[in-house]
Amino acid sequence: MFKLWFSLFLTTLIFQVQKFAVCEREQIPTPPLPVLPLPSYSQLKWQQRELIMFFHFGVNTFTDSEWGTGNENPAIFNPVGLDTNQWVSTAVEAGVSLVILTAKHHDGFCLWPSKYTDHSVAGSPWKNGHGDVVQELVNAAKARGVDVGLYLSPWDRHDRRYGHDLQYNEYYLAQLHELLSRYGDVREIWFDGAKGSNAPNMSYYFTDWFAMVKELQSSINVFSDAGPDVRWVGNEKGFAGSTCWSTINRSSLSIGDGSIVGYLNTGDPKGTDWLPAECDVSIRKGWFWHKSQSPKKLSDLLDIYYNSVGRNCVLLLNVPPNTTGLISESDVQRLKEFRNAIDTIFSTNLAENCFLIRASSQRGGKGGGFGPENVLDSDHLWTYWAPGDHQDDQWIEIIGTDGGLRFNVVRIQEAIGLGQRIKRHEIYVDGKLVAKGSTVGYKKLHRLESGVVHGHVVRIKIKESKAVPLISSIGLHFDPYWHPKNVQ
Ligand SMILES: *[C@@H]1O[C@H](CO)[C@@H](O)[C@H](O)[C@H]1NC(C)=O
Ligand SMILES: *[C@@H]1O[C@H](CO)[C@@H](O)[C@H](O)[C@H]1NC(C)=O
Ligand SMILES: *[C@@H]1O[C@H](CO)[C@@H](O)[C@H](O)[C@H]1NC(C)=O
Repeated sequence: MFKLWFSLFLTTLIFQVQKFAVCEREQIPTPPLPVLPLPSYSQLKWQQRELIMFFHFGVNTFTDSEWGTGNENPAIFNPVGLDTNQWVSTAVEAGVSLVILTAKHHDGFCLWPSKYTDHSVAGSPWKNGHGDVVQELVNAAKARGVDVGLYLSPWDRHDRRYGHDLQYNEYYLAQLHELLSRYGDVREIWFDGAKGSNAPNMSYYFTDWFAMVKELQSSINVFSDAGPDVRWVGNEKGFAGSTCWSTINRSSLSIGDGSIVGYLNTGDPKGTDWLPAECDVSIRKGWFWHKSQSPKKLSDLLDIYYNSVGRNCVLLLNVPPNTTGLISESDVQRLKEFRNAIDTIFSTNLAENCFLIRASSQRGGKGGGFGPENVLDSDHLWTYWAPGDHQDDQWIEIIGTDGGLRFNVVRIQEAIGLGQRIKRHEIYVDGKLVAKGSTVGYKKLHRLESGVVHGHVVRIKIKESKAVPLISSIGLHFDPYWHPKNVQ
């Protein structure tokens, strides 16, 4: 009996002391725990780029083909006016901070003078065999503060070692070593499983390749069907799933496996690995330049943007240099229109002039640092609105001034630095449902099917979430290019 009494007394005493300590110094509410898995530092940097550019260039540019045979004569490669400064300027004007070059495509022709083959620029008339496209791109990019990535095709239709596992893997690793040690920082390396149906059987030693990549470049992201840092989105249309998790189970993925494209497209809410998707698509029909082709319409590029960047992905847009060695004027112009459209739509956030912003609850109470006003600042990662304890059916509301709010796009961003959480959400204007969706992730863009709405109260409801939802940014925008088909 005494023992019980004593322990009760002790507990009360400890409680009183704790309470006293709280009174002594106001406790600042802490951020909530993360929900694993989390992005790595390099994955976060990659995600924030939003738009990156691919340059498909090589012997195919000169033979008007998409897949070379491997029997091309290096003598056909002669881009007399090649100017990588023009490529990089085009990228910079499009708002791109990372450009990726096809250092070697399936035909095996190398755009740098590799020590291990003569099937390269060294055997071409361009600069009398003294040129190096990789070096020229790296120089031009460095001068403008743009980062560089490289693609080295695993499938090689030229080299005789292809089909002999050991010899070819050694050859491939030797070339990888050249590319990742000669040219300074490389921020992304691209591997794919593309291969003709008649190609010889070959096992790629991916484990060795990835280990060597990470050894040579500390901040690189490795792209492939199966990561390990960035995954393929499962198609070449530039469209992510309307549900798109950055999480997935890597153990369920293998490179070149056609049966997983659906899984790659949507990711997995239960996924144990952070492996966000990259949407690769070409500005033209083909990946390489063809005289007969022209760039996609602006409205098509905007559809791609909303379905990639607007679905929690990074858009990898291919822009192929022509036989002169320059990006064609028509592509340059279309990219200017594209960037101008994105800036027109998103440079103004109508929510910023609201009368009031409020929420169902907030972590740590008023003044706790997690209030709804955080979604209107310029930090889209580490300042956010966090509701109180329970995770479902929380809401945040933007109330317009007298004139109301007129918009047709809603942007929502999650604080993904603490994990991707939201599973289901809805948007109401003056009590009327105008849009609903599943995942949000780094950025979710809703183009309203009803067209422009005009109202006073915009409420975003988080219906379901893996843990308390953390919203880092909200935007209400007007897109003058958006004309939904079912609306007059
Ligand atoms: C590759 O290997 C499979 C089974 O091991 C065999 O059926 C197929 O004919 C081979 N293909 C080639 C092109 O050698
Ligand atoms: C992914 O892994 C998790 C944890 O092991 C598991 O619960 C989930 O079912 C897996 N997803 C699929 C599609 O198998
Ligand atoms: C390549 O593009 C440049 C820039 O627009 C242009 O001057 C040149 O004529 C083009 N080359 C070909 C073969 O179309």
